[in-house]
Amino acid sequence: MNVMVIGSGGREFAIGRALSKDTAVQKIYFAPGNGATERLGENVAISDYEALAEFAKTQGVDLTIVGPEGPLVEGVVDIFKAHGLTIFGPSKAAARLEGSKVYMKNFLAKYGIPTARYIETDHIKTAYKFIATLGVPVVVKADGLCAGKGVIIAQSHDEAKKAVGEMLSGAAFGDAGRKVVIEEFLDGYELSMFAICDGEEFILLPAAQDHKRLLDGDQGPNTGGMGAYAPTPLVDEVIYEKVKARIIRPTLDGMKAESAPFEGVLFIGLMIVNGEPLTLEFNVRFGDPECEILMPLMQTPASELFYKAATKQLDRLHVSFSKQYAVGVVMASKEYPYANSTPAEIIVDEIHHPEIAQHAHICFAGVGSQDGVLMATGGRVLVCVGLGESIREARDRAYMLCGQVHYAGKKLRTDIAYQAL
Ligand code: AMP
Ligand code: GLY
Repeated sequence: MNVMVIGSGGREFAIGRALSKDTAVQKIYFAPGNGATERLGENVAISDYEALAEFAKTQGVDLTIVGPEGPLVEGVVDIFKAHGLTIFGPSKAAARLEGSKVYMKNFLAKYGIPTARYIETDHIKTAYKFIATLGVPVVVKADGLCAGKGVIIAQSHDEAKKAVGEMLSGAAFGDAGRKVVIEEFLDGYELSMFAICDGEEFILLPAAQDHKRLLDGDQGPNTGGMGAYAPTPLVDEVIYEKVKARIIRPTLDGMKAESAPFEGVLFIGLMIVNGEPLTLEFNVRFGDPECEILMPLMQTPASELFYKAATKQLDRLHVSFSKQYAVGVVMASKEYPYANSTPAEIIVDEIHHPEIAQHAHICFAGVGSQDGVLMATGGRVLVCVGLGESIREARDRAYMLCGQVHYAGKKLRTDIAYQAL
């Protein structure tokens, strides 16, 4: 089988890495890929989706897997399907679960799926009235995609009103903020769950916990994620069953009823409040760095899993998971998340220690390649992943590997998985 992976980050590297170990896979294309994916396959520099579909056809690509939300929201899946290609990911219509918070909240309300109490509006007076009924903090969300910056946790009613004003006027996020969702603040602990869906059936993956803040102890600004681990002991069978029955099942049934059946990865951001899971957000793709730690826990060959999901055959697939734990530590560049850093050469020591050689690996993300030399070029440069029989063992191996990687301006959190230790 020939497979194409759309995207360029550590998530896409992790999917490519799993495919590269899969005996059913002959050739892997990355569009556009990064400086390290070209070691796993061929990078393709075609950004127009029609042209990319043509390329996939002429190269005999049997399956395409989409990593990031951007191409999904822009309809890459619809374009590939119109060309008769097999592609894993949601249609443009289904991707609105991530692309529009208003759509998502209204969908949850319509199908009785648990979430925070809210209103959606484009009217400032309506917004002010609802804010007055809430305690503090107040959560204000821009409707559209804002690169992870569209959610404000306002500590006072005045701050919430100011945020709403800046969003509705277009000053904060342009058109993405012309509508807002205002909701009550939920006080609990956050988890991410991922379901591989084929429109009807789903496979729920082990729950993961991400570390969004830049600095140790969950301090500093929000980032795309500085590290993650799975499975988390914060989830038991009771919570898994509640998430399946109250959130995932009705979401798949509801999306079908809306004529937008959900195929692809449903990423459920959850807040657990007094043992009850509430939906904070949906994303329509794998998390990054969650994908990097979940891929090595899946024992089913990646091509089979994604192909069956893309062709509505999940009911005929049994996925087995490793009994191990995985911890991923992100190594970022000096100015992340504020600005780009000067490109710097990456040196990885020769790894002699069997502990790291056998139980840890690197997923490359923001890297380029210059005359065969890997350069740190992006904000999140790479993820060191450790596997082990316990979270502690997995974490120790991930950090041992971090110690073998060098580049100017290297930056990482030292407390990944602390909640579980
Ligand atoms: P979202 O993109 O909607 O997941 O929001 C980003 C982050 O804001 C979440 O990961 C939570 O940490 C926080 N958040 C969003 N909505 C709420 C809420 N209703 N209550 C508490 N925290 C929230
Ligand atoms: N790590 C969170 C995300 O990918 O959105």
